[in-house]
Amino acid sequence: MREQVLAWLAENVPASRVNHIIGVEQMAVDLAVHHNLDRVNAAVAGLMHDLAKYFPPQKLLQMARIEGLEIDKVIEANPRLLHAGVSAIVARDLFGVNNEEVLQAIANHTLGRPGMSLLSCIVFLADSLEPGRGDTPELQALRQLSRQNLDQAVWKTSDYTLKFLLETPYLIHPRIIATRNWFLQKSKSQQLASQIA
Ligand SMILES: [Fe+2]
Ligand SMILES: [Fe+2]
Repeated sequence: MREQVLAWLAENVPASRVNHIIGVEQMAVDLAVHHNLDRVNAAVAGLMHDLAKYFPPQKLLQMARIEGLEIDKVIEANPRLLHAGVSAIVARDLFGVNNEEVLQAIANHTLGRPGMSLLSCIVFLADSLEPGRGDTPELQALRQLSRQNLDQAVWKTSDYTLKFLLETPYLIHPRIIATRNWFLQKSKSQQLASQIA
């Protein structure tokens, strides 16, 4: 199946994006092995997370409407945010992926989601932190944290994304803030529990 997906990507995605996708696949597998998760699920989710990245906005909106995905004001203003949810649809309909956790991990890779699964966490982290994203001290620290504590890593990586977004003229979707708050609170309650113990 991997070869089939790579052949499809070569036709539908620029080469630089394919490099990013392979970087996400590899980092998701590394994190899955490190955290004792299923490496095949991580590889599939990583490889397919950006299938719809270059679909035109009208196509994203149309597919999302048919599927019944939520389209709020921020998404209406920036339909590209739908590429995560629509990539999951393509993974299911074109490549026969039927593992719900894998499909959710694809759908959650951009904005995260409060309470998302460990697989979703590692794909979310790999998307922002794969080696092609750069090699600043901040990224290096986040990569290290993603091996030590997934909850803290999702919180801090959401902060990193938010800081980046504040420098751009794009609307910020409230779900990335909800993700950040949820994983911040979970990290804090874990710290408290370990202090009491
Ligand atoms: Fe993406
Ligand atoms: Fe991506």
